[in-house]
Amino acid sequence: MAEVVIVENADAAGALVAAEIVELIDGRPDAVLGLATGSTPLPVYQALRSRLAGRDVLPVRGFALDEYVGLDPAHPESYRSVITRDVVEPLGLDPRRIHVPNGAQATIQHAGDDYETAIDAAGGVDLQILGIGTDGHIGFNEPGSSFASRTRVKTLTEQTREDNARFFDSIDDVPRHCITQGLGTILRARHLVLLAFGEGKAQAVADAVEGPLSAILPGSAIQLHPHATVVVDEAAASRLRLADYYRYTYANKPDWQGI
Ligand code: PGA
Repeated sequence: MAEVVIVENADAAGALVAAEIVELIDGRPDAVLGLATGSTPLPVYQALRSRLAGRDVLPVRGFALDEYVGLDPAHPESYRSVITRDVVEPLGLDPRRIHVPNGAQATIQHAGDDYETAIDAAGGVDLQILGIGTDGHIGFNEPGSSFASRTRVKTLTEQTREDNARFFDSIDDVPRHCITQGLGTILRARHLVLLAFGEGKAQAVADAVEGPLSAILPGSAIQLHPHATVVVDEAAASRLRLADYYRYTYANKPDWQGI
């Protein structure tokens, strides 16, 4: 099962995951990061700013999980723009090494295959950061997604469009389609780190970590991964049946083991 780490707040989660990423980059300067958008990973990127300051991070490579289809990459809410603003610029990464699925309509039919080829050519993702939607999606793999899925076009649920409408002027501006790494793509990353904060995520977290494996809850795919870490605050952990066991396990973890 996934290792669950219950932390005091989002800043503590950010510090924990940032430390793991720094260790990864120390060992392998051209490490391949799996980058997530949304509000959840922001504390990680925030913590990385100071921890990576002064280091040569230009060799670091990255692959974003997903992108909207048909949204101009220059639009402030395209995931290309979000990754540039939240990750590439503040951390000083080389934009040419940071990939985002290509949501352009003209090439969308092969954009998924192209992305898979690029990930494979990079040797795969070392550490994949994940958020989870209130409906249990990871990346933009909405309920019903195959556990074997690869990068492809998906239709966003109305719930996800509503959740994301806050970033747009109106819900009518939220695209209906996206291109996302598949669950099978995500499962090939060597280490998954799923973060969630707040009561609103508690049910999705409990279902993903402890619920049955089911396409209806795409996040439950993490149970198939040999090295998945779930970092949550108390509110997001509030529906975990084994919360006390996770606390006990983490408190007694050997010092030599990272997350
Ligand atoms: P959030 O989104 O981080 O903005 O809550 C998570 C997701 O929908 O995957």
